[in-house]
Amino acid sequence: MTTAQTTATGIQSVGVFGGTGYVGSYLVDALLAQGFHPVLLVRPGSEARVEQRDRCTLVSGDIDDEAAIRQVAEASDALIYNIGILREFPQRGISFHGLQEEAARRTMDAAVAAGVRRFLLMSANGVEAGLTPYQRSKHAAERYLQGLELDWTIFRPSVLFGDPRGRMEFATQLSAEIIDSPLPAPLFHNGLLPFGAGNFTMSPVHVADVAAAFVAALRDPATIGKTFHLGGPETISWREILTRLAAARGRSKLMLPAPALGVMAAAALLDRFESFPITRDQVRMLLVGNACAPDDLEALGIDPRPFSADGLHYLEPRAAA
Ligand SMILES: NC(=O)c1ccc[n+]([C@@H]2O[C@H](COP(=O)([O-])OP(=O)(O)OC[C@H]3O[C@@H](n4cnc5c(N)ncnc54)[C@H](OP(=O)(O)O)[C@@H]3O)[C@@H](O)[C@H]2O)c1
Repeated sequence: MTTAQTTATGIQSVGVFGGTGYVGSYLVDALLAQGFHPVLLVRPGSEARVEQRDRCTLVSGDIDDEAAIRQVAEASDALIYNIGILREFPQRGISFHGLQEEAARRTMDAAVAAGVRRFLLMSANGVEAGLTPYQRSKHAAERYLQGLELDWTIFRPSVLFGDPRGRMEFATQLSAEIIDSPLPAPLFHNGLLPFGAGNFTMSPVHVADVAAAFVAALRDPATIGKTFHLGGPETISWREILTRLAAARGRSKLMLPAPALGVMAAAALLDRFESFPITRDQVRMLLVGNACAPDDLEALGIDPRPFSADGLHYLEPRAAA
């Protein structure tokens, strides 16, 4: 028995694909806090990642498992597709096309078959540029959803930050790999001359604000058929992001211009290894920037948290040597 209440929209149980990851953990918290009952597809071995599992329904299975997808859909009044990856490993069957397009389509088809009309899709800011397989697969999933007879809402966040809860997150990763490194921080730039080095911009948005946006949309039928760009309150440069991360770690950091071509060349050789920190496509997407306004979040009644010392408290200043 659950304590979930049926909302004015008739939605009580919410199926989540990708509920065990970084964003997923915040989605589950936000759903529970607002009286929804999460129904999660959970890969065998990932059960312990759901902290509040005694308050959720867990359906065991991989996203390739049609029966498990059907079970989630049939137990839900709305579905959220949140599965996504940052890099692909085709030799292990992990690809952008497979997880962000084909699998997303399977869950949308399952929604139609089960008569679940409400569907929320996690996409990403800038996907319409179609620069990389990451962006193209997400954009294809958006277009497929828009062609179905479903009550859809699409979310396109900029880069997310917030306590990673033991998972991978933008600020923690940059802090570990760039700020704490003995090497100078790279101010990437196009071409050989350092014009505009480190000036490309992003709008870091707090993960809890993104989760709140999903839940707000579930309660608001006016969000049906709309795409929301989710940016934090400020658009800041890569240089400023590194400066704030260094401050959060209680240190200053030497920064030097670095031609993106050099990183691309290294990534061309090494990005098939998981330990190499960045792929060519990630550098490409970094350099075009990832900026969007906070207006859509504010329209959903959310006051977005800044990328500031308070918001980055989880990075903790490093101990004095
Ligand atoms: N993080 C960002 O800055 C950012 C920015 C914009 C958009 N997004 C989007 O937000 C979404 C969530 O990202 P995240 O950062 O939370 O990623 P994450 O922590 O890696 O979580 C990925 C989720 O997908 C699940 N998953 C992966 N492969 C699966 C499979 N074969 N079958 C079933 N489930 C599978 C994972 O399950 P396990 O726990 O079993 O691994 C996990 O629940 C993605 O769509 C991402 O593109 C993220």
